[in-house]
Amino acid sequence: MTGKYHIVTFGCQMNKADSERMAGILESMGYTPTEDVNEAKLVLYNTCSIRDNAEQKLYSYLGRQAKRKHAEPDLTLVVAGCVAQQEGEKLLRRVPEIDLVMGPQYANRLGELLEQVEQGRQVVATEEAYIEEDITKPRRQSQVTAWVNVIYGCNERCTYCIVPFVRGKEQSRTPEAIKREIEELAQRGYKEVTLLGQNIDAYGRDLPPGGIGKGVGGKITFTDLLYYIHDVEGIERIRFATSHPRYFSRRLIQACYELPKVCEHFHIPFQSGDNDILKAMARGYTRERYRQIIDQIRELMPDAAISADAIVGFPGETEEQFQHTIELVAEIGFDNVNTAAYSPRPGTPAALWANQIPEEVKDDRLQRLNHVVQQGAAKRSLRYRERVEEILIEGRQPKEPYPLMGRTRTNRITFIHSDREDLIGKLVKVKITEVRPFSLTGTLLHD
Ligand code: SAH
Ligand code: SF4
Ligand code: F3S
Repeated sequence: MTGKYHIVTFGCQMNKADSERMAGILESMGYTPTEDVNEAKLVLYNTCSIRDNAEQKLYSYLGRQAKRKHAEPDLTLVVAGCVAQQEGEKLLRRVPEIDLVMGPQYANRLGELLEQVEQGRQVVATEEAYIEEDITKPRRQSQVTAWVNVIYGCNERCTYCIVPFVRGKEQSRTPEAIKREIEELAQRGYKEVTLLGQNIDAYGRDLPPGGIGKGVGGKITFTDLLYYIHDVEGIERIRFATSHPRYFSRRLIQACYELPKVCEHFHIPFQSGDNDILKAMARGYTRERYRQIIDQIRELMPDAAISADAIVGFPGETEEQFQHTIELVAEIGFDNVNTAAYSPRPGTPAALWANQIPEEVKDDRLQRLNHVVQQGAAKRSLRYRERVEEILIEGRQPKEPYPLMGRTRTNRITFIHSDREDLIGKLVKVKITEVRPFSLTGTLLHD
């Protein structure tokens, strides 16, 4: 039973990477992609449960397709990802039209699960599972830049966060498997890889000691991994996310400085600028420690871009404590901060606390923080004006008159006055002519 498929992806880079793998599996089974959801014979929602609004959006999308299924009974409905893991069987009771509910650890096994569905069963796959090395070929969105998972899951217990419940225990891929994947990408013409982990600094802790490991007890660390994969020929840029301040090391900063392909961009979420809130979140660092990390980075790489995530309205947050977050953002000078109002998540400790903050207070703080973030980013962008930057051209963007789109090493999106499609996948020098808070515009130095 094949035909056209349509995937809707919510959430983070992990989910995007999983969707690419699942698309690869579907295509190896003979399915072909369609942009039009109503034309698809198989609709897959790869879901996110980090905040309630992401979850609610899923239900409204799903409702429409469930209705369509009454008129087209051969439509296959799949719910994958983090809401699938969180809700499991309950999803089937809520939307009985669903054929398959599968947690993130089953992304590689979509094929076998669909075979069970074809035998006429409704399937729920949410048991904790070991993630097998990928033998399928992902269908990647870009032909220039690719995600590469290095560690799955998260063993932290931040009191607001659902991720450990839905993504399971940490599981590192072996350095050999990671390098092999990067070599294959290079052979196929990819120029950039982004190494992914929810807490990438935890890489290697669960692997046996030995080999190239230089960490405690001879274990491999994320820093060792960077040295190990760095020289793959053809790959020009290496990025990684997400770093956790609790485990971020000086050795890692040194490695980023020494290794020419590792880009000067650090995504290090701080979540709050107040030490008591950080403690209640169980983050394991202070605002002072966070500032020290940024200082250490800037000592070696003064121009490095720093981005982060922050939450406002965590239970008990006072106006004064919120001001500490505002102060930290103003002091550091971030290139970008992803901000969010705290959203209570089922099964997480903070969701049960009595000192929840009213929605209107959270919204107001969010707006005020966004304003400071935007101002800070605009200021940071100024440094690019009139500068010549090395841009990796990723593709076209339909909005004329700047058809080419790429990024600086520091991850600023850059639009270029040129229609030279032959430059896609190439590193070019661009003179920056216009700056905005989160993007730049420029002209090719040698057209
Ligand atoms: N592993 C990363 C974050 C993954 S989740 C880290 O430790 O930093 C991505 C972001 O979503 C988090 O950084 C946090 O800012 C936000 N987030 C997570 N849980 C949330 C919640 N319950 N309410 C609001 N934002 C949340
Ligand atoms: Fe969530 Fe904390 Fe793990 Fe990040 S480190 S995924 S915020 S539990
Ligand atoms: Fe969302 Fe799951 Fe990522 S909850 S942020 S898709 S790990």
